[in-house]
Amino acid sequence: MNINTNYQNISDSYLFSTIAKKVNEFSKANPDKEIIKLGIGDVTLPLCKVVVNALKSASEEMGVKETFRGYGPEQGYDFLREKIRTYYNTHNVELETDEIFISDGAKSDLGNILDLFSTDNTVLVPDPVYPVYVDTNTMAGRKIIYIDANAQNEFLPLPDESIKADIIYICSPNNPTGAVYNKAQLKQWVDYANKNNAVILFDSAYECFITDENLPHSIFEIEGAKSCAVEFCSLSKMAGFTGTRCGYTVVPKQIQNGLLNKMWLRRQTTKFNGVPYIIQRGAEAVFTPEGQKEIQENLNYYKENAKIISQTLDKHNIWHIGGKHSPYIWLKCPDNMTSWEFFDYLLENVQIVGTPGSGFGKNGEGYFRLTSFGSRENTIKACERLDKFLK
Ligand code: MLT
Repeated sequence: MNINTNYQNISDSYLFSTIAKKVNEFSKANPDKEIIKLGIGDVTLPLCKVVVNALKSASEEMGVKETFRGYGPEQGYDFLREKIRTYYNTHNVELETDEIFISDGAKSDLGNILDLFSTDNTVLVPDPVYPVYVDTNTMAGRKIIYIDANAQNEFLPLPDESIKADIIYICSPNNPTGAVYNKAQLKQWVDYANKNNAVILFDSAYECFITDENLPHSIFEIEGAKSCAVEFCSLSKMAGFTGTRCGYTVVPKQIQNGLLNKMWLRRQTTKFNGVPYIIQRGAEAVFTPEGQKEIQENLNYYKENAKIISQTLDKHNIWHIGGKHSPYIWLKCPDNMTSWEFFDYLLENVQIVGTPGSGFGKNGEGYFRLTSFGSRENTIKACERLDKFLK
């Protein structure tokens, strides 16, 4: 056999695995030092009660002959797809149930969707960017071009008519920068995609952090998006499902007269056996009024953490964005340190773990990402350490 040599074009290890390895090594060498992890965007608050109750009763159902279920529909149970359809209505988006596909999370589908597109396509990604978009396309051998996101454009690049691309990635609120596109800016991307017969792969995993009612939660709030965009969302950050695993992907039927929707169904029914029934019942509970209330309390908790981090950075005049409509705070490393220098500096001196901006692309060099997903206690402790150390 011949291996897929495209794998030689990606780095040896995934960004967050590299960080975990470095932190483990430090921890082994310094067992007495308490490390505070504000690196990978993993939640710390437990699942809310209404979700746990739904998971429990679905487990009970699985233990009774009359209510036991085997294989479910690969695209998800209608009870959950309906709830998500109604959730979109709250953002004034009308979808059809069969445009919604349940998945085990946005990361998997963002990679898997590439099965539907020719490897001849040119991919446009902003830099800095969530590494999954780049790595999955590199694995498939697609040509990738970059559009600069930087302080000049407030990390929100807009389309450039001179650039020709077929597949465009947009993540808003953005990972890693926390920047959010407004409707007029997203409209420019939608118009560009429709004009160029391109597809936008829109990652809305952080939409639940948006508090300004004028900012779009979904690309489908933008006129014309249903003929050019596929949207990926997840309950990971919204409802603490990073370990529970459930997400959804919306493939509108207007794209190429329903062809993409049909192909995705075909792909999923062939390569995926669906999310477990029990998990889908837990996910369903997230979209009930009690579920929405409970997850909002958790989101508010993380937002308060972001505020605490932001205030500490302000105090030391460290340039930063994000944190307001996002769990991520994107900051400029002090004293012109590189991203990895600042990573080592924080780990060695104050035992705080963040994510080096350069891990997200060349424009991330000199920047650093902190998350608000830590516990309140750890966030305060980390800020106290920073406050003392940065003096
Ligand atoms: C991150 O830290 O960027 C995220 O946790 C990655 C992810 O959601 O896969």
